[in-house]
Amino acid sequence: MHDHKSVTIHPAKNILGSLRVPGDKSISHRYAMLAALANGQSKFDNFAPGADCASTLECVSALGCKVERDEKGIVTIEGRGLELHAPTAPLDCGNSGSTMRMLSGILAGQPFSSVLIGDASLSRRPMKRVIEPLTQMGAQIKSAEGERAPLEIHGAKLHGIQYRPTVASAQVKTSVLFAGLLAEGKTSVEEPARTRDHGELALRAFGVEVQRDRNTVSIQGGQTVQALEAYVPGDISSAAFFLSAAAIFPESNLVIDGVLLNPTRSALLDVLSAMGSRISMVRVEESHGELVGTIALVPGQGRHVLIEGALTALLIDELPVLAAIAPYTVGGLEVRDAGELRVKESDRLSAVTKNLRVMGAEVEQTEAGWRIPGGQRLHGAEIESYDDHRIAMAFTIAALRAEGDSVIHNAECVAISYPAFFEDLERLLER
Ligand code: S3P
Repeated sequence: MHDHKSVTIHPAKNILGSLRVPGDKSISHRYAMLAALANGQSKFDNFAPGADCASTLECVSALGCKVERDEKGIVTIEGRGLELHAPTAPLDCGNSGSTMRMLSGILAGQPFSSVLIGDASLSRRPMKRVIEPLTQMGAQIKSAEGERAPLEIHGAKLHGIQYRPTVASAQVKTSVLFAGLLAEGKTSVEEPARTRDHGELALRAFGVEVQRDRNTVSIQGGQTVQALEAYVPGDISSAAFFLSAAAIFPESNLVIDGVLLNPTRSALLDVLSAMGSRISMVRVEESHGELVGTIALVPGQGRHVLIEGALTALLIDELPVLAAIAPYTVGGLEVRDAGELRVKESDRLSAVTKNLRVMGAEVEQTEAGWRIPGGQRLHGAEIESYDDHRIAMAFTIAALRAEGDSVIHNAECVAISYPAFFEDLERLLER
């Protein structure tokens, strides 16, 4: 990941064809962590291929679980039951906030101390959101200034709590639920807004009982975790780049097979529909609690879209690409309540604004969002990824509709979630 790769993007005429996208990153992290705590061997087909989930696998392996990945990408993990092995070195979470925050929940309840480290970006990201509840549950956690990584976690016998996070974060919810699994008594998390529910669904898939009552999720500590064999659905946040690309070319036609359709992740489809696309879903099935199916998209002309409040939380990873295509839509886009974008892999609020502006777009950055008029023409430009995979991919899509070539600098970061992104995109392009 240190070969600073620049990729030139030529304008395209159209997006045509069908594909499958790599396994979902959020689900893969959770499956790997729960597999570590399970009795017996778990096996995952289509496990997410990116560097983030590789970080999770390395941590799980350093915690004493045998992890294997074959040439077809099938991952096998030998669980240790609820008690893991003390690591002999710091656990490296790389660029992955999900790894650090969710694994913290598990480490908080182990009878040993461990240290979690990350790259420069992860070391700038806020960890107070997990330190606070896990400390309330009985763990001791030391952190660097500003409650950031490295985290030194002194595990303890935890006790259940009732927790109300101030940020809507699925990572925090899952971290507390994982700690709750290891705690004495009952733990509940009341979310300020609904977030992705893969933590709850994954726990159930591994045989653990979890209750939901409106925005509160509860778990009883000490339950046994049973090994799981599963196929990981395609990542809709990766599919989002191709769907958004297809939405801005009048003649496009795109089919994505085997993709995750969990309602807490698929709000993107509603937004693209409002922007004018006609989207159909077929062959929808359930797999270990998760909905999976085929999406077909043909573009059309839509209206102005406003994303705010609870909807912003559900679309948090798709906002960069929606903003990147917004100038090409008929009605434009306004996003509010997206302050969380500032603390992602990069400051995505300003990364999007800067890249739109170098392409000649009119965009107003507000306190926690943007106003982006539709009906604009953009020109090719030198795009900076800010070492953020979703920024690199979002602006690759914007560049496809620009006049003239663009260069995406530091594009190697796509490997965080989607190593074959440029190859898969190439196969869908008509020039
Ligand atoms: C994720 C939750 C979101 C999201 C991240 C993955 C998860 O983060 O941005 O890419 O798998 O739970 P937050 O929990 O910080 O909102």
